[in-house]
Amino acid sequence: MNGWTESAEAWIASQGDEGDPSRRFVTDPAVRMLLAGRRFSHMLDVGCGEGRFCRLMKPQCARTTGIDPTVPLIDAARRLDPDGDYVIAGGEALPFADAAFDLVASYLSLGDIPDYRAAISEMARVLAPGGTLLVVNVTAFNSAGAGLRWERDLLGRKTAYRFDRYMDERADWEDWKGIRILNYHRPLSAYMQAFLSAGLTLRHFDEPLPQGADPDWTLDFARAPLFVVMAWQKPA
Ligand SMILES: C[S@@+](CC[C@H](N)C(=O)[O-])C[C@H]1O[C@@H](n2cnc3c(N)ncnc32)[C@H](O)[C@@H]1O
Repeated sequence: MNGWTESAEAWIASQGDEGDPSRRFVTDPAVRMLLAGRRFSHMLDVGCGEGRFCRLMKPQCARTTGIDPTVPLIDAARRLDPDGDYVIAGGEALPFADAAFDLVASYLSLGDIPDYRAAISEMARVLAPGGTLLVVNVTAFNSAGAGLRWERDLLGRKTAYRFDRYMDERADWEDWKGIRILNYHRPLSAYMQAFLSAGLTLRHFDEPLPQGADPDWTLDFARAPLFVVMAWQKPA
């Protein structure tokens, strides 16, 4: 049990039409800039949720396929995009042939996947030679900060960002806005070693700041960025 089935309705509401503020102001602008002008023949979105990123990428992809093990999220994805291709599956065993996709995306899903090493190896397997693996993930000090994060003074001002047990891989329950899910923390080195072991080459790495958002929120990100955006390439 990871909480996703029980949280599905609240999650769908939290995303609205344009994604939650983190996606709208931080990660989507960074991804748009990274993939600007590129076209793909077939994108696979691993952990697609209610299908937002598949819908967003449709103008740039001849075909999109989303996979997710959470049935009510795949039901919503099919309802919101009746022509789309959505499959109930986990990232650890992708039901696709080798080299079937020229773009594979994991958009804020790696921290939800219990066996991330298997999932990364599967993403590399289904990627065509020369293809791109797009990864949007939470920073490791964000996931290591579960239950800690901002320390405040008596006036409520944020004094420091706290995290602990950075090198311990673990799962923590996270609660917000009616959503209660199990999130996995792994140090950045664990993820990077898994991508390198899968034979991928790093082409892009960013810790994006919000674009056009509230200045105080932007300042928080400059103190402690919450997301990383990476592009890995499978050798041609
Ligand atoms: C934070 S949501 C992100 C959803 C979507 N990518 C987005 O950005 O809106 C994480 C997703 O990972 C999915 N997930 C959980 N376990 C998974 C697994 N083993 N393999 C793939 N996805 C999984 C959840 O069902 C959920 O849809």
